[in-house]
Amino acid sequence: MFSINNIIRDNIKNLTPYSSARDEFKGEASVYLDANENAYGSPLDKQYNRYPDPLQYKVKKRLSEIKGVPPRNIFLGNGSDEAIDILFRSFCNPGVDNVILVPPTYGMYEVSANINDIEARKVLLTDEYQLNLEGIAEAIDSHTKMIFICSPNNPTGNSINRDDIETLLANFNGLIVIDEAYINFSRQKTFIQELTEYANLVVLQTLSKAWGLAGLRVGMAFASEEIIEVMNKVKPPYNINEASQELALKALDNVSLVNVWIKEILEQRDRLVLNLKHFDFVLDIYPSDANFILVKTTDPKGIYNFLVERGIIVRDRSKIDLCEGSLRITVGTPDENDVLLKTLREFK
Ligand SMILES: Cc1ncc(COP(=O)(O)O)c(C=O)c1O
Repeated sequence: MFSINNIIRDNIKNLTPYSSARDEFKGEASVYLDANENAYGSPLDKQYNRYPDPLQYKVKKRLSEIKGVPPRNIFLGNGSDEAIDILFRSFCNPGVDNVILVPPTYGMYEVSANINDIEARKVLLTDEYQLNLEGIAEAIDSHTKMIFICSPNNPTGNSINRDDIETLLANFNGLIVIDEAYINFSRQKTFIQELTEYANLVVLQTLSKAWGLAGLRVGMAFASEEIIEVMNKVKPPYNINEASQELALKALDNVSLVNVWIKEILEQRDRLVLNLKHFDFVLDIYPSDANFILVKTTDPKGIYNFLVERGIIVRDRSKIDLCEGSLRITVGTPDENDVLLKTLREFK
């Protein structure tokens, strides 16, 4: 049986978290002389002389309305990359515990594991880019704390079979972290509605992709109240700055614009696939549920360099296991996609 008490690190269980001035006085006052801020202001039109809300209540409340998840089940990170790091720091003992990664997948899980001195056990996806459940079962031992699953997966673009993820959720006694950075582009349903069903579920999402706010650095983790409490205890007190909180809140009022973009990006993705498959040097294009496509080619290095020389940058993923020959191409605007296709017509 999964229990948070079995996976939380002892030092974190016993940690007295930092108590900020804003934690100690939460009411409204007319004179604030408790946080060593500059009471005179800041050299900007908009005043940033006060520390931001450590628990980002307004942003979470708005996200809660959009996502249908109570604020107490939401953690905000300085990008989802911070949420990934906080999960390691909360639940994995350095030099002792391990996590399971299923490459080819997003590279930060391994980097974060390495930074935190946690063994990353790799179980390759199958040739169809799906989970190797038997391999995962063999790799799990009593020190396995988390399994990271990216769906839709970066860099392959496909979604991971829901039944396989549910099998892991039902049987694994550690955390199943499902990274849904690209979920807005997917035909598949999010897992955030399953939080009440699975105590060991953590879903990551971000404002960096469909929401177009990569520069603000706002990532989300959705999980049980107990998991969120631990993550809040471990995070730096003011991890989302005031400007990001304000701008995120403003952006979250424009869901309709984001939905228009998603529709257009999906149309452009189909158009790119349709056009790219006619090139002799394109061997395969994997079905994508994301805002990028993985394209298997005869000459990845040659095409990559040819494009770079003409000012077009794609991602060479050809050195990665199971991605031999492949370039990852993000869907651009119609004009950018025109330029890409026109340039590729000149490639011999
Ligand atoms: C699967 C996946 N997760 C997380 C991230 C990082 O997101 P953030 O910008 O929220 O840190 C990326 C960025 O490329 C990603 O591909």
